Amino acid sequence: MKVTVVGAGMVGASAAFAMVMRGAASEVVLVDRNRALAEAQAQDILHATPFAFPTRVTAGDWADVAGSGVVVLSAGVGQKPGETRLELLGRNRAVFADIVPRVLEVAPDAVLLVASNPVDVMTAITTELAGLPPARVIGSGTVLDTARFRALLGEFLGISPKSVHAWVLGEHGDSEVLCWSSASVGAISVEALALQHGRPLTADDREAIDKGVRGAAYKIIAGKGATWFGIGGGIARIVQAIAGDERAVLTVSTLIPEVEGVTNVALSLPRVIGAKGAGDALWPELDATERTALRHSAEVLKAAAAGL
Ligand code: 2OP
Repeated sequence: MKVTVVGAGMVGASAAFAMVMRGAASEVVLVDRNRALAEAQAQDILHATPFAFPTRVTAGDWADVAGSGVVVLSAGVGQKPGETRLELLGRNRAVFADIVPRVLEVAPDAVLLVASNPVDVMTAITTELAGLPPARVIGSGTVLDTARFRALLGEFLGISPKSVHAWVLGEHGDSEVLCWSSASVGAISVEALALQHGRPLTADDREAIDKGVRGAAYKIIAGKGATWFGIGGGIARIVQAIAGDERAVLTVSTLIPEVEGVTNVALSLPRVIGAKGAGDALWPELDATERTALRHSAEVLKAAAAGL
């Protein structure tokens, strides 16, 4: 599958690199208003292909987007230290109002994969700008937060994060919901497993993991100015699920008619991802605290979108 990445900064380039390393696409095109940057990133990534999967990697302009099965939208600005994701909204909306029609003019059948922040509201905006069914406009959403949760739980338990089943729902941002009640390894809850290991998961441990997931971006941005590897890996994983029509379950953001009483809001739930984009949502069994938190997250996103 041919995949275009619009926005060749660190997030877009890391996504392209991760796609090459995973063999997620046969061709990757990088488009950026800074053509020299796109050329340089494409060359650099191409040089990794002998160590990965044979992939054509080029820089292009709008005409080169034609024939793409997925178009990753990672253009726009990122957070500065101390800034929230929601504060980027006005600036990134203007960027998307320009690029979404250009993409659809040449690739009307592509699945759009939104990565720019605030990703949930940008997903809702892109769905509206594109006039496409919500299934065709996917936000990377909490695919990254879910990965962070699994990674930190895996570290705590001494288990591969690939064998930790735990989900983060709602906003990709401050109000996200870590689903502790369903987090498990094998067929055992993480609490029971921690107890079996003789190191019970205390309230302090849970708080540290919550902070590590929810506050990850702030910490990384304070240290290196932006985040890119984690999200690059997550984007490549979503692209691979679409390209292979995997019907894999991933937490991605899409516009949803109603969540916990809040209507027409884009946020993340576990969804079945395949060739047509985001299929059915899975509605997880949540405890009362998680349900309240998911409702709050939906309200935060709805208010942010309404404030535009
Ligand atoms: C992240 O969570 C900043 O949204 C970006 O890494």
